[in-house]
Amino acid sequence: MYNQKVMDIFANPQHMGFIEDNDGVGKVGNAACGDIMEISLKIKDNVITDAKFRTFGCAAAIATSSVATGMVIGMTVDEALKLTNAKVVEYLEGLPPQKIHCSVLAEEAIKAAIENYYERSGKKPADGDKEIKYV
Ligand code: FES
Repeated sequence: MYNQKVMDIFANPQHMGFIEDNDGVGKVGNAACGDIMEISLKIKDNVITDAKFRTFGCAAAIATSSVATGMVIGMTVDEALKLTNAKVVEYLEGLPPQKIHCSVLAEEAIKAAIENYYERSGKKPADGDKEIKYV
């Protein structure tokens, strides 16, 4: 069902774990499948310096968690807010249609972690005080 790239990343995921002294943490779940994803971020001078995930879910959820956390490290918070599940799926060279929702979980977990960072730090997104949009 999965392509080789997804299977390779699932077999050897990066950035697993939890950052205890995080600056933002987001936990989201998918009601349909019951899977849960949590992403914690370390942020310095508005740049994400570390990201880790804990995911209880399928191979697609694990692979997208690994890719999404890897992608946001080094991004500014505002750049990370623009990361879409489509970009993660593109990096993975595709997911089966019934597994696209798993990649949405990764996008939502990053947005939730950034939202938590904004709440805790009192900072706001660079493009004004718009609310963070979920897809
Ligand atoms: Fe639930 Fe993949 S089936 S996250």
